[in-house]
Amino acid sequence: MGTIKCIGILTSGGDAPGMNAAIRAVTRSAIFNNIEVKGIYHGYRGLISGEIKPFKTENVSNIIQQGGTILKTARCKEFQTPEGRQLAYDTLRHEGIDALVVIGGDGSLTGARIFAQEFDYPIIGLPGTIDNDLYGTDLTIGYDTALNTIMDAVDKIRDTASSHERLFFIEVMGRDAGFLALNGAIATGCEAAIIPEISTEIDQLKELVENGFRKSKNSSIVLVAESPTTGGAMQLAERVKNEYPQYDVRVTILGHIQRGGSPSATDRILASRLGAAAIDALLEGQRNVMVGIRNDEIVYVPFSKAVKHDKPINRELLDTLRRLSI
Ligand code: F6P
Repeated sequence: MGTIKCIGILTSGGDAPGMNAAIRAVTRSAIFNNIEVKGIYHGYRGLISGEIKPFKTENVSNIIQQGGTILKTARCKEFQTPEGRQLAYDTLRHEGIDALVVIGGDGSLTGARIFAQEFDYPIIGLPGTIDNDLYGTDLTIGYDTALNTIMDAVDKIRDTASSHERLFFIEVMGRDAGFLALNGAIATGCEAAIIPEISTEIDQLKELVENGFRKSKNSSIVLVAESPTTGGAMQLAERVKNEYPQYDVRVTILGHIQRGGSPSATDRILASRLGAAAIDALLEGQRNVMVGIRNDEIVYVPFSKAVKHDKPINRELLDTLRRLSI
């Protein structure tokens, strides 16, 4: 591999708070190491159509505190085709971009893995998703902020839940993972979290209702991870209405509010460390790895592992939630 003189950076898939801090860190760290930077807009779509602009240090000023992504993002079907990826490669050659830094979640890093293999092209991935579902990293950029957003929302809903003595199902994001639901439930003192990781093992609703919810209180809040496996909050509420009509049940779906907002300190620091480490990785000759964090240490995780392995839920957290909701 020749020396890397110019890198491209893009954000892809669902946005996550802290992506801007990561863009800033990658850009500044590259320039610090005399590497040129080009910002690619709208993710892989912009790579195909050539929406690219040179980035100087001032292009990333005053963005560390902003949610969303200044580079915009997209979910790009064309990049899933060999023809689309060929066009993307042609753009990279035309622009003189020697390596890519891709900030995104599972789908985006899967795309990066295929592209890197197909064209023998160096790519470094950064885990950017509120879902925290990438294997090999303890945290993903955006997860902590989303968790705090969930905490604020649930605290508010608790006021009305307890005034009306109602049972609330609150649906949170996470795609097929229950990290937001489980840790959100612990952080807000919920009665339970219904998560996909254990949905096939037990009927979580039945267990919950038959244990009588919380005996010392007349209201209850249950966090439900969105997923076909849990059925989602609406479906669970329907079941309660039919099977346990004694409960006055309500549903709140938090939705995209979870993806917005100024990133937390944890996310800003994480994004800054991972962004700087992405440039170190390239300088060390690493390629086709995701930069992650484990036990507070930077780690390189091959794309194949990061996207293909299921990240396990910590069962001790489930047990903690159960014990504290008596
Ligand atoms: O992957 C992030 C995420 O917010 C998931 O939690 C959610 O299922 C999905 O994206 C929603 O995507 P979209 O904004 O494209 O509907």
